[in-house]
Amino acid sequence: MKENESATVEPEVRIENGEKIEIMMANENHYGYVDTILDTVKKAAKARGTGIASRTHDYILEKMKEKKGIIAFVDGVFAGFCYIETWSGKKFVANSGLIVAPEFRGRGLAKHIKRKAFELSRKRYPEAKLFGITTGLAVMKINSEIGYRPVTFSELTDDPEYWKECEHCVNFDVLSRNNYTRCLCTGMLYDPSEHKDNPEPWKKWEKGEKSEKGHWMKTFKKIISLPFAVKTHKRGTKN
Ligand SMILES: CC(C)(COP(=O)(O)OP(=O)(O)OC[C@H]1O[C@@H](n2cnc3c(N)ncnc32)[C@H](O)[C@@H]1OP(=O)(O)O)[C@@H](O)C(=O)NCCC(=O)NCCS
Repeated sequence: MKENESATVEPEVRIENGEKIEIMMANENHYGYVDTILDTVKKAAKARGTGIASRTHDYILEKMKEKKGIIAFVDGVFAGFCYIETWSGKKFVANSGLIVAPEFRGRGLAKHIKRKAFELSRKRYPEAKLFGITTGLAVMKINSEIGYRPVTFSELTDDPEYWKECEHCVNFDVLSRNNYTRCLCTGMLYDPSEHKDNPEPWKKWEKGEKSEKGHWMKTFKKIISLPFAVKTHKRGTKN
């Protein structure tokens, strides 16, 4: 599969509520943040009680050296990170290890980090399918806005190395019991061949627009809120 090793993305720098937000490709200036990243992931995994890809110091450092990491800062303080990995001979790309430091959550940082990682993935591996598995609603929302759709695991990479990482997850028994066909995570896929009409969505995001393909989440929300709507209607309450 085609790879543009020299692919880059422009850093995103903006002032929000008087704070300087920076999201960029990790480079040699960021090697010193590897332990902070690992520590933040470790604490989040403990608090969440479920799987977040845990990696070694060398692995994250290697990602930075390979120009496959996206790092964020708020007023110069580490705020978040994500990296890209390839599977099945670069036919698949995963944006993994997303983490936002607790003090900077809930203000759109994960969304912007994922968008940068997506842009980098598309530019570096233009023919690859992008995918991820998650139990997190935040990541489902972000992915669906980008244009990912939920799929069964059969649509994702069958690279054993990818699934090996799940051995560290507390739910691994569920995955192995189901012969790696399903688990508690939702598989999500972005197939570039389905988005030929909008190959560079980041150009629209810069103008604040969402992906036109990210509508499944709205439908999903409508479906799950229907019983509540019915109940509310029966009780005759309106707010
Ligand atoms: C998940 C995580 C990365 C989100 O980071 P964040 O910067 O707070 O997320 P954002 O502010 O960009 O939120 C993006 C969307 O998700 C929603 N969201 C954020 N956190 C959420 C949560 N805990 N539950 C439900 N929705 C959530 C936001 O409301 C937003 O939706 P909107 O665009 O409709 O408003 C962060 O909480 C984190 O690092 N958690 C621990 C690590 C982890 O779970 N990583 C993901 C592994 S799959």
